[in-house]
Amino acid sequence: MKKKYFLFLSLLLLSFLALADTVKTEPEYAKRGAASCLKCHDELPITLIYQTPHAQQTDPDTPFAQHQCESCHGASPQHIPGVLEGEKKPAPSIVFGLQSNTPIEQQNQQCLNCHQQGLRMHWQGSQHQFADLACASCHKIHVKEDNVLIRQNQADVCFTCHGEQRAQLYRRSRHPIKEAKTICSDCHNPHGSSGEKLLVENTINETCYRCHAEKRGPFLWEHPPASEDCSICHTAHGSTQPALLNNRAPFLCQQCHSGVESFHTNVLYDGSGVSSSGGQSRLLAKSCLNCHSNIHGSNHPSGVRFDR
Ligand code: HEC
Ligand code: HEC
Ligand code: HEC
Ligand code: HEC
Ligand code: HEC
Ligand code: HEC
Ligand code: HEC
Ligand code: HEC
Ligand code: HEC
Ligand code: HEC
Repeated sequence: MKKKYFLFLSLLLLSFLALADTVKTEPEYAKRGAASCLKCHDELPITLIYQTPHAQQTDPDTPFAQHQCESCHGASPQHIPGVLEGEKKPAPSIVFGLQSNTPIEQQNQQCLNCHQQGLRMHWQGSQHQFADLACASCHKIHVKEDNVLIRQNQADVCFTCHGEQRAQLYRRSRHPIKEAKTICSDCHNPHGSSGEKLLVENTINETCYRCHAEKRGPFLWEHPPASEDCSICHTAHGSTQPALLNNRAPFLCQQCHSGVESFHTNVLYDGSGVSSSGGQSRLLAKSCLNCHSNIHGSNHPSGVRFDR
């Protein structure tokens, strides 16, 4: 009998504690939403957010259709009251940026609550997530237009950390990134990808075929390195060689075609210039490509040597 009472009482106590707990953790959002914040923050650039998709109240998925400012900054009752002079004001629950005391993971989770899908499917475990980047490292929220989403301005956002790629764009041949005809996010998904190097496709070749479809083949005569990996011969961003090549012919070709295997290369094209029948002149201009011009593959019935 006593035992039963004890059980009943402790169950009662437990459920009361559980209830108290939920009451305690139910976030206390400002009843007047953004108006509570704008009392003090009605200033630029903060209010520029009203000109962005985030402020579209007609779309129920936006922050402004929900807890407004606090959908991102978290319920912040501690921050709203005014403080006396000299008193320290407690910060809002979520403050964004790399300088903030809010852990990066918590900042990002606040955005991912609404944006986990689509391009961000591979964010967890991605190189940028692993390197502790915040969403706010690239995205600005209190601006009319977010630079990283504007084709002409995107690269500058990336260059703040990737100086090497900026330097590559000043080389002799390069992808037209400065002109914004090709931009970083045409080839990379900065949020993470299933391929290497944050590429938008699973392989380098699939990424290149997006725009250079004619190089995909199938060809009657395939040149194995081309169908295997474009980066055997090309760099992606910029090169001191023409056509983004990572080496010049004949050296480029002689990495693989150096020996007795090809009847003429070892004799005529070693760069020494010692040859009969004008070997030296065949090294001029496009070198091996003077004759083997369809280097990515050929569909000509007799194009087995890629010369037509
Ligand atoms: C009574 C005035 C007042 C109200 C109301 C107010 N703030 Fe603030 N807020 C301030 C002041 C003052 C600062 C600067 C505090 C500091 O630098 O220590 C600030 C700073 C901030 C910061 C930057 C914090 C940091 O550490 O950099 C954010 C974000 C912020 N407020 C968001 C909000 C949000 C969201 C609301 C509404 C939920 C809000 N504020 C309501 C006065 C206010
Ligand atoms: C979509 C998420 C989001 C919403 C909604 C949002 N903010 Fe912010 N807020 C941010 C981010 C991210 C930053 C960091 C700076 C930036 O991206 O512009 C920030 C920065 C701030 C700052 C600090 C600015 C500074 O100079 O450091 C204040 C103050 C602020 N927000 C207030 C507000 C107020 C007030 C509202 C509502 C009117 C609001 N925020 C709504 C995401 C948001
Ligand atoms: C309450 C949900 C919600 C939260 C929280 C939220 N967003 Fe959004 N966001 C949306 C919706 C809805 C849109 C508009 C529809 C769309 O583009 O998906 C949007 C649009 C965007 C866009 C595209 C803007 C444009 O101009 O096209 C970016 C970038 C973005 N959000 C980044 C962020 C970042 C970074 C954070 C965290 C600081 C964040 N969002 C927090 C719901 C949210
Ligand atoms: C390294 C820079 C970088 C980081 C970090 C980053 N983004 Fe982006 N984000 C971009 C770029 C670039 C685009 C444009 C991509 C495109 O158009 O293919 C973009 C586009 C978006 C868009 C709009 C396009 C869409 O998917 O609807 C949203 C929303 C977004 N990012 C949310 C986030 C969130 C949430 C985080 C943090 C988890 C984040 N981003 C982190 C660079 C970044
Ligand atoms: C035409 C497609 C393409 C464009 C545009 C592009 N990339 Fe790449 N990027 C690649 C490929 C392919 C690789 C992997 C092979 C390599 O390292 O060359 C790569 C590699 C990288 C790497 C890793 C380098 C390393 O040594 O591991 C970084 C960082 C990078 N890109 C940044 C950028 C930035 C920033 C931009 C925009 C300014 C950009 N990329 C534009 C295709 C591209
Ligand atoms: C706040 C700094 C920062 C910004 C901004 C930034 N990155 Fe990165 N990025 C990093 C760090 C850190 C790494 C990981 C270390 C490394 O490989 O350099 C990285 C790695 C990469 C890689 C190589 C991944 C690999 O496997 O080696 C690529 C590609 C890349 N970033 C592309 C971009 C693009 C595109 C943008 C612009 C949309 C961008 N990054 C903006 C810091 C940044
Ligand atoms: C988003 C589209 C796009 C993607 C993806 C792309 N390219 Fe390009 N590529 C271009 C454009 C645009 C040009 C410039 C064409 C022109 O000027 O006529 C170009 C030019 C080139 C050139 C000639 C450069 C010169 O100086 O003559 C080479 C080589 C090249 N791309 C290789 C690649 C490789 C390798 C990949 C994969 C890593 C790739 N491209 C991915 C758009 C793309
Ligand atoms: C065996 C070395 C090699 C490989 C592998 C290779 N290329 Fe090339 N590519 C070249 C050479 C050499 C040139 C310069 C041709 C010329 O000057 O006539 C070139 C030129 C180009 C050009 C610019 C001229 C044109 O033909 O449009 C593009 C674009 C290109 N390659 C894309 C690719 C793509 C995409 C891949 C991967 C599918 C690839 N290349 C693989 C050697 C190669
Ligand atoms: C990464 C190694 C590699 C590079 C670099 C390379 N090739 Fe090849 N090439 C091959 C392979 C493998 C074959 C196929 C050989 C076979 O079928 O016996 C081939 C076949 C050929 C053939 C046809 C030969 C035959 O036996 O039918 C020619 C011509 C050729 N390559 C020219 C070139 C030229 C010119 C370059 C420089 C622009 C070049 N290759 C760069 C690997 C390479
Ligand atoms: C003047 C034109 C010309 C130049 C320049 C030239 N080749 Fe050739 N190459 C040929 C012809 C023609 C054949 C086919 C010979 C045959 O079928 O007997 C051939 C055959 C080949 C073969 C296949 C050889 C075999 O044994 O089946 C390879 C590999 C090759 N060339 C590579 C190269 C490389 C690498 C260079 C540059 C170092 C080069 N070629 C420069 C005309 C040229």
